[in-house]
Amino acid sequence: MKKVLLIGADGMLGGELKERLEKVYDVTGTTLATLDICDKEAVDAKIKEVNPYFIINCAAYTNVDGCEVNYDLANRVNGLAVENIATSAKAVGATFIHISTDYVFAGNLDIEKVYTENMEPAPVSSYGKTKLLGEQNASKAEKYYILRTAWLYGIRGKNFVKTMLKLSKENNEIKVVSDQHGSPTSTTTLCKIIEQIMEKEPEYGVYHSTCEGFTTWYEFTRKIFEFANIETKVIPITSAEYKEMYPQSSDRPFNSMLSKEKLHKVGIYPTEYELALKEYLKEELK
Ligand SMILES: NC(=O)c1ccc[n+]([C@@H]2O[C@H](COP(=O)([O-])OP(=O)(O)OC[C@H]3O[C@@H](n4cnc5c(N)ncnc54)[C@H](OP(=O)(O)O)[C@@H]3O)[C@@H](O)[C@H]2O)c1
Repeated sequence: MKKVLLIGADGMLGGELKERLEKVYDVTGTTLATLDICDKEAVDAKIKEVNPYFIINCAAYTNVDGCEVNYDLANRVNGLAVENIATSAKAVGATFIHISTDYVFAGNLDIEKVYTENMEPAPVSSYGKTKLLGEQNASKAEKYYILRTAWLYGIRGKNFVKTMLKLSKENNEIKVVSDQHGSPTSTTTLCKIIEQIMEKEPEYGVYHSTCEGFTTWYEFTRKIFEFANIETKVIPITSAEYKEMYPQSSDRPFNSMLSKEKLHKVGIYPTEYELALKEYLKEELK
């Protein structure tokens, strides 16, 4: 059995991934309580102790609005700490799988177009800037995969789908942004992509890793309510109107659409977002 060190094993993605990988790999999971990735010596000692074949980093400071006010902490966790993992991974010859985000792009690309892995990142939010530093540091591992995901939701964490389901119980109508485009991605779909990367070990580098298909938050909410038989009305609003309602919120990309061409070329075909949503709701509404 190949050894895996899974960092951030109690997060939304990490929790599900741990449960799945344990069936096939010898997994050591760490959490903030057992391994703070900002502690370089502790990271190095853990990686040497486990001596894993794969190191997967699911730990991050993921509160996008929080990154604007807690920039230093976000930069340490999302950016600087990734170097600790990458350099130790290189020292033991491990393959490093790091999770990143669509927010490394400015998100202002014409919505007729999609972002490919070789396009120049230009983050506008603090979260995106810290995650880009994380990508630069992750690439210091000799063998690495940087998987950029987006609009992630899963059973184990707070997420957009859960928020909409909750709001629908408290309101007759909900206003949702209709000018931001992307691919809602279930943690189950991302886990399957990670598992296939681990099986196939394609060429090292960056891979866009979301569900197939593109939508807007507004249309996605309509799908959530349709599949969950909820009658709450969904009203489209612009990002500018949302910002007026929540002035502290971080600016979100208009275009978060990531091409999956590179994944397809290595034989990985993610689940369509509507199907992934249906599968998730079956579990969530049980
Ligand atoms: N959620 C999304 O919509 C989204 C979108 C694009 C990309 N991503 C990326 O996907 C990955 C997984 O996200 P997620 O939503 O599963 O995140 P999550 O649920 O917030 O989990 C992140 C985990 O990291 C832990 N952590 C924070 N600081 C740490 C530190 N210094 N050392 C060790 N662990 C630390 C957190 O612990 P505490 O909870 O105790 O703080 C938490 O368990 C992240 O890289 C994220 O940037 C997420």
